[in-house]
Amino acid sequence: MDNMLNVALPKGRLGEKVYNMFEKAGFECPSIKENNRKLIFENKELGVRYFWVKPSDVAIYVERGAADIGVAGKDILLEYEPDVYELLDLNIGKCRMAVAAKKEFRDDNQKTLIVATKFSNIAQQYYLSKGRDIDIIHLNGSIEIAPILKLSDVIVDIVETGTTLKENDLEVKENIVPISARLIANKTSYKFKSDKINKIVNEIGTQTEA
Ligand code: PRP
Repeated sequence: MDNMLNVALPKGRLGEKVYNMFEKAGFECPSIKENNRKLIFENKELGVRYFWVKPSDVAIYVERGAADIGVAGKDILLEYEPDVYELLDLNIGKCRMAVAAKKEFRDDNQKTLIVATKFSNIAQQYYLSKGRDIDIIHLNGSIEIAPILKLSDVIVDIVETGTTLKENDLEVKENIVPISARLIANKTSYKFKSDKINKIVNEIGTQTEA
């Protein structure tokens, strides 16, 4: 294991916010702000290395130890249940997981409910807890189309502003769980790199309280 702290950041707007939090915490890496297509950046003096990965892949890098820590959405943590430590709620990237359907949709308990979603595990567990019989249709995106085309009765998806639902004549029927970005750590790394990781947790912790 090298001495650098390897940090997986979610590529995109949220990731830039997250990097700024790390920078404020004393782990700056100025080269990351040069706008190029590079994916790995390091500051040898501070002993930190950042890499940009697809947001839904952060947890895999951390679980497998390719990254020591990273930032992942609670949606991904609930869906894939990676074996990692969840250290901190960053209080950014806030949204919610919800059940949505066409306004006129009324659930008929006598029938199996058809649910389209990218979050099959979350949906499965939610309806299991309610004792509701469902069929899942796993989709990879543009979930909102499914009830419009009668592919499904409802969807389980992320709602942030609600604009996507509104513009497709759908509405939230049930809230499942609030979502936000979380700082996660590889379990072994947390033991061996606890100094740096705890420093980050403490520094970023004060930023999220502010
Ligand atoms: C997410 C989600 C909704 C939308 C919700 O989609 O699946 O479609 O954002 O945001 P809103 O409530 O602010 O409109 P994303 O952009 O991740 O794309 P995809 O699910 O279609 O891949």
